[in-house]
Amino acid sequence: MKRIAVLSSGGDCPGLNPAIRAVVRSAISYGFEVWGVRRGYEGLINDDFEELDARSVGGIIGHGGTFLMTARSKRFLEEHYRTEALRNLHRRGIDALVVIGGNGSLTGAAVFSKKFPLVGIPGSIDNDVYGTDMAIGVDTALNTVLDAIDKIRDTASSHQRAFLVETMGRESGYLALASGLGGGAEAILIPEKEMSMEEVADLMHMAYEEGKSHFLAVVAEGWKPGTAALANYLRERQNYVEFKIRVTVLGHVQRGGVPSAFDRLLATRMGARAVEFVREGKFGQMVGLQGGKLVAVPLEKVASERKKLNLEYYYIARRMEQYCLSGAECG
Ligand code: F6P
Repeated sequence: MKRIAVLSSGGDCPGLNPAIRAVVRSAISYGFEVWGVRRGYEGLINDDFEELDARSVGGIIGHGGTFLMTARSKRFLEEHYRTEALRNLHRRGIDALVVIGGNGSLTGAAVFSKKFPLVGIPGSIDNDVYGTDMAIGVDTALNTVLDAIDKIRDTASSHQRAFLVETMGRESGYLALASGLGGGAEAILIPEKEMSMEEVADLMHMAYEEGKSHFLAVVAEGWKPGTAALANYLRERQNYVEFKIRVTVLGHVQRGGVPSAFDRLLATRMGARAVEFVREGKFGQMVGLQGGKLVAVPLEKVASERKKLNLEYYYIARRMEQYCLSGAECG
């Protein structure tokens, strides 16, 4: 009989509950005992565990957030606290740990997996985890952003205004790019692709002159010099850009909400596969999605490599925006 612990760590995202549920139910189906760790790595350090049965995860498949709660643990970066965590796991007779989280959490998992049998699952709205096409939570966040963009366009068109819509994503432009393409934005500003404020002003001016009723720029939070600086720049050139400028920072609304069908399925598949990894003794690995298939990705690679944004979406978007003829780079 094996004893497995599961935790969610770092920023929450939609799909954590279905992933935990899948780990718990899969493990129980193999006759394993499952323990939930509250507040991520903080719970490991504080010895905050609760035993879970199949009923503990009943009715949560459609809930956002994480019923185990989560935390960004600074203490886990210190060896002293990791030793404390290790001691708690050994004292409780835990054989394996499943960690669900984003880049920071999986980097911590890579370090900890040198000392303890561990399997990782990618969960982050940023879609910046190396080795997986999609992380849990990305699809739901993307749908949330799209819903916001559609609504903002209604008000933008009614007033003939330009909106800068800022998405989350840390250093990754994925959410901005995918939502910009799917939402038909007039401009997409991401850290991976340079675009000057002057160029944005030109695009806005051209759009107004063409008689467009709105201008939507989706701005990734990691884009420099940033949304506020761009808004100031454009407002100072009001006569040229013509559109009145408004800014909407979507913020944490992107992290909450009912997980989409895609995220529920991905979370359930990944949770179940993580338990298979435990059964097979495949430790120090993350469950990744590559070309529709679940694969094992070494946590060490996840921690050391940077995921590259696929710019195919970017060039298609530029064509959709119809700016290639004006000299804009379209791939
Ligand atoms: O990593 C997820 C994320 O939402 C990022 O997109 C964002 O930059 C960050 O977390 C915000 O973190 P916090 O919720 O701790 O403010």
